[in-house]
Amino acid sequence: MHIDAFPHPDIHKILLDEQALGDRIRALGAQITRDYSQRRLLVVGVLKGSLIFMSDLLRALGSEVDVMVDFMAVASYAGTASTGTIRVLLDLRENPEGRDVLVVEDIVDTGLTLTSLTETLRARRPGSLEVCTLLDKPDCRKTPFKPKYVGFQIPNEFVVGFGLDYDERYRQLPYVGVLKPLQARTH
Ligand code: PRP
Repeated sequence: MHIDAFPHPDIHKILLDEQALGDRIRALGAQITRDYSQRRLLVVGVLKGSLIFMSDLLRALGSEVDVMVDFMAVASYAGTASTGTIRVLLDLRENPEGRDVLVVEDIVDTGLTLTSLTETLRARRPGSLEVCTLLDKPDCRKTPFKPKYVGFQIPNEFVVGFGLDYDERYRQLPYVGVLKPLQARTH
């Protein structure tokens, strides 16, 4: 199997490499396994950004947790982005009522998406509701939001890879990197 030794030509620098991501995700998985030991857990991935983190995190959960998986996809209402109200594009198939629910995200930036999404889910009366995000940009909040589980706090730089995109590109990169300026990119 060939894996590129160098970053994608559009990447200015690698912020988090495969080793750092893998180590941290295994630690998060161990922490979540301890916290939900002998319980049923509905893990809800928020598409699309969470896809790679979600699949690694699931594989880092121990058998002491009875895990079920579901997905949601959301978007901001056009023109009301500052209110942070979301539109549900893809909803759960599972009923979260009375269940322990863990929402998995790739990044919390302004906090508007997760504030609105957790309000939406809370209205369905889960037994418990927590958020696990791979990346957190605490300096960018427009509303206070504190996820319980955080992989890495990062500075306010535009990052892609490991599920995160720019214009739907770069999600496949196995690391989190900072994009070059537009004029220096190949795409
Ligand atoms: C990203 C991310 C969060 C949201 C965080 O999703 O996955 O859902 O933005 O930003 P916020 O804290 O400022 O609200 P995006 O809309 O880029 O969709 P994607 O997951 O499909 O890439």
